[in-house]
Formats: sequence, structure tokens, C-alpha cells
Amino acid sequence: MIALGIEGTAHTIGIGIVEKEGERCNVLVNKSKMYRPEKGGIHPREAANHHAQSFPLLLQESLKETSIERDDIHLIAFSMGPGLGPCLRTAATAARALALMLDVPIIGVNHCIAHLEIGRALTGCRDPVLLYVSGGNTQVIAFMEGKYRVFGETLDIGLGNCLDKFGRELGMPFPAGPKIEEMARNGKKYVELPYSVKGMDVSFSGILTACINQIGKEREEDLCYSLQETTFSMLAEVTERAMAHTEKEEVLLGGGVACNRRLQEMIKTMAEERGGKFFVPPNEFLVDNGAMIAWTGILMHESGLKMSIEETKVRQNYRTDEVEIKWR
Ligand code: ATP
Ligand code: FE2
Repeated sequence: MIALGIEGTAHTIGIGIVEKEGERCNVLVNKSKMYRPEKGGIHPREAANHHAQSFPLLLQESLKETSIERDDIHLIAFSMGPGLGPCLRTAATAARALALMLDVPIIGVNHCIAHLEIGRALTGCRDPVLLYVSGGNTQVIAFMEGKYRVFGETLDIGLGNCLDKFGRELGMPFPAGPKIEEMARNGKKYVELPYSVKGMDVSFSGILTACINQIGKEREEDLCYSLQETTFSMLAEVTERAMAHTEKEEVLLGGGVACNRRLQEMIKTMAEERGGKFFVPPNEFLVDNGAMIAWTGILMHESGLKMSIEETKVRQNYRTDEVEIKWR
């Protein structure tokens, strides 16, 4: 079966065309375009306009890059939530139009679960604890008693958001995560920052304020290093707690921040020290992408799930544990 998936929860519009061959996930194409605000944070309506403008060309290019014909597409999947309303609605509208035009079923996918499913498909892990760290989200998710459940999450902002805001204070363009990672490699001194873990939850806004207050007093490299060390240690701690609690031995990374090598190294060390295994898919599948939506759409469809056009309303606060999981 071949599905076309559309991702559009936040600043990225993505199209993925994926084929399921037995249990295998063949990604035929995975293309995206990212909205980058000139200054300041992401403006939902501007991002949505960007997605609407980029979509037609992205679709054309995606179809051109594969040898498949339109008739080969048997399912349209799209990111139904959680995310920013205008962005979600843009992607959903495109998905509905395509499904009606091609006369194929349509399915709305939970974005967070899609991060987990594409990781499972591409790395070969079976039943992991997912540490999902992106701009807007920071969650520890695992499968238990028939559902994907959130064991821990940020109580305020996502870690990517925290890094981007700190980077903006240092004059870095959006997204600042990669630049912060680069600068952190030249950090020499750990600057004391608040460490905020409550059970399996974390919070970042206090750390962000404290770190911003040190600008001008400490070297920027040391601040980037200290911000990473502190927040990544917090994530390692809560992920380990979730592994112990759920008695799972695999840990999987997802989300744009998971591209960070230092975060990967710290989570890997934690997992291996407790006799567990560490998995991370290639970067293009860590960041928001259409392939993960297409793949999860296929899993849902094959498990017998169907949606009418009326049922494809977007859900800005779509929670991970609301989704009925019939494919596991
Ligand atoms: P979501 O809608 O899932 O919240 P998102 O819109 O933030 O996701 P992603 O592509 O998953 O999109 O992640 C983008 C984030 O990842 C940005 O905040 C960016 O700074 C961060 N990021 C990217 N690369 C790195 C890196 N090497 N180190 C740290 N952070 C990174
Ligand atoms: Fe995401």
C-alpha cells in the first residue's frame, strides 16, 4: 500500500510518500519546506500562508521525484493535531482536496504518535520509551495497556522553544538549536543554572530566564554549554524514570532537538548503563516530516480505521492518549 502524508502542525509543511511492503516501511519521497520568521517567534497565520503557498510546488516536486502515478496513491494522511490552528487547517484542507480528487480514503494522524511510529519502523526497536523533544513539545511517551501514554512532559515551553528563545537573545537566526550545539562544543565552564524536574515532568522557562540573565556576564559558549548540559540531564533523568516505571528496555528519540549529538550521547549512555538499548532515526525523520504521517496513516488504515471528511476536523490540543491504537 502507498500513502501520501501531509505534515503541517507548526513551521514545517511536509509531504511524504511511503509504501508498506509487508512490515517494511519504504520511504519513496520525503520533502519539506520550513517557514522561518524574519524576526521574533513563529506567527501562526504567517506560517499557514507559507504552507498554502509552498504546497502546490512541493506536491509537484514530490510526485516528480518518484516514479509512481497518481493512481498508485491509495490513502491520504495528514497531521490532525496537536499544533497551531491555522497551520493544521491548511494541511487538512489540502489533504481533503487531494483525497476527494483521487477518490481515496483520508485519515487524520496524531503528530506525536507519528514521531514514535516512524522511529519504530526505521530503527527496528519494538516497544520503546520515546523521548520526543521538539520546538513546541517535550514529552516522554510509551505504550501501555492499549494506548500511547504520556509519562512526563514539560510544564511550560518545549525545549526547542527554550533554545530558540535563548539563541534569539544572542542574535542567532531561527532555529537556533544547531548553532547553540556548535557553540556549546567550545564551552569550558559550567555556569550554575536551576534544575527543574518534578517526578517525570520538567520545566524550562525558569532556566531560560536565568540563562538570559547571565548574558554579558559569562562567555556565550559557556552559557550554551551549561544550558544544554542542564536541560539534557533533566531529560535523561525523566526518561530513565519512565523506563524504570514502565519496565521497558528501549529508548527512542524523536523531534528536532533530538538531532543534537550531545543529547543523543547522554541518552545513549543512560540507556546503556541500565542495560537498555538506544535508537535514533536519521535527522530527516526526527524533524517534522510527511513520511511519518503517511506511515502512521497506513498503520491506522490497515487496522480498520476509517474517517469521513466530516470527521477530519483538526484538533489543536489532540492528546496522545486519546488515540485508539488498533495496530499494536
Ligand atoms: P513540533 O510541532 O513537533 O513541536 P517543531 O515545529 O518545533 O515541532 P521540529 O522540526 O521537530 O519542529 O523541531 C525544531 C526544533 O528543533 C527547533 O526548536 C530547533 O531549534 C531544534 N533543533 C534542531 N536542530 C537542533 C540541534 N542540533 N540541537 C538542538 N536543537 C535543535
Ligand atoms: Fe514534531
